[in-house]
Amino acid sequence: MSFIFFSIFPVSSDISALIDHISSCKSLEDLKTIEHVLFSRKSGLLTLAFKQLNTLSPKEKKIKAKELNALKKRAQETGNGMREALKKRVTDAAEHNVLDITLDLPEEEHGHLHLIPEYIAQVEDVFGRLGFDVAYGNEIETEETNFDLLNFPKDHPARDSQGIFYLCNKERGTQSAQQPLLRAHTSPVQIHYMRTHTPPLRMICPGKVYRKDADATHSPMFHQFEALMIDTDISLAHMKSIMETAMRELMGSDVEFRWRTGYFPFVEPGLEVDVRWRGAGWLEIAGCGMVHPNVLEHCDIDPKKWQGFAFGFGIERMLMIKHHIPDIRLFTEGDLRFLRQF
Ligand code: PHE
Repeated sequence: MSFIFFSIFPVSSDISALIDHISSCKSLEDLKTIEHVLFSRKSGLLTLAFKQLNTLSPKEKKIKAKELNALKKRAQETGNGMREALKKRVTDAAEHNVLDITLDLPEEEHGHLHLIPEYIAQVEDVFGRLGFDVAYGNEIETEETNFDLLNFPKDHPARDSQGIFYLCNKERGTQSAQQPLLRAHTSPVQIHYMRTHTPPLRMICPGKVYRKDADATHSPMFHQFEALMIDTDISLAHMKSIMETAMRELMGSDVEFRWRTGYFPFVEPGLEVDVRWRGAGWLEIAGCGMVHPNVLEHCDIDPKKWQGFAFGFGIERMLMIKHHIPDIRLFTEGDLRFLRQF
């Protein structure tokens, strides 16, 4: 900004011209410069002009003082107005196009794992620390691996097509061992694993299983994880201890258990486990027992030398207890209001 040169004794018209310049200021810096020229304590034009009043006669002094006060007031008002305008220009610019690296960016939304795979990862971690290997079986099994080799009698009601998703039409009365089906439990993985590994062994296998069932607590597709431990000196006490240790880690230390005798063709003896947590009711959550000698034999493992336990948990059931989820269908409906909570 350029300035007009003033005589040593400031004249009102010069001061007035300078005040007019205020409205063409481009920045707060320009405004500050003009205000300094007008008001500075030693050399400000208005300061000097006021000092000059003492050299005048009382009559002239009165007229001149009135004039200077009017100028001073105009200078201050124009300066303040301009300052506000310039500040606003700066904020507007910041709002519209100027990058402000001090501002926090709006939070970006990131996706995350669905609570079932997230829980499976946790299960794998807990059992991994207990020395268990992880195996993933096939979701398509056969009559042989889903039932026969697991010691199911030929006429066992679980083989009924009303409960099983057979992948080819099952002809009445024919019992083809190779009949493909969607596995109804993770137990066939026991067979595959024992046929490809030599004991001692510890394995868990999480995954999807399929049954023709659908209501608030049953879904045609749900998740289980199975555990298998085979060694020379294993008893139900080991099984109970492993199950309770894992459950306490996965659910909370205050989880309560109820052990009942149960029947599964592939274990002997067999048990069913109910769990209660923080005042909720008992919920059946797992089946378990000592691996049946016939099953070991089907996998070329000598039952006189080796023994062990197996158990299978329903994953949705565990999560329903843990998070008080009232309906199993919520897991697969894809409602973000539900999914974002976990
Ligand atoms: N497979 C059984 C079920 O789905 C659970 C189970 C697993 C029971 C292992 C005993 C041993 O109900």
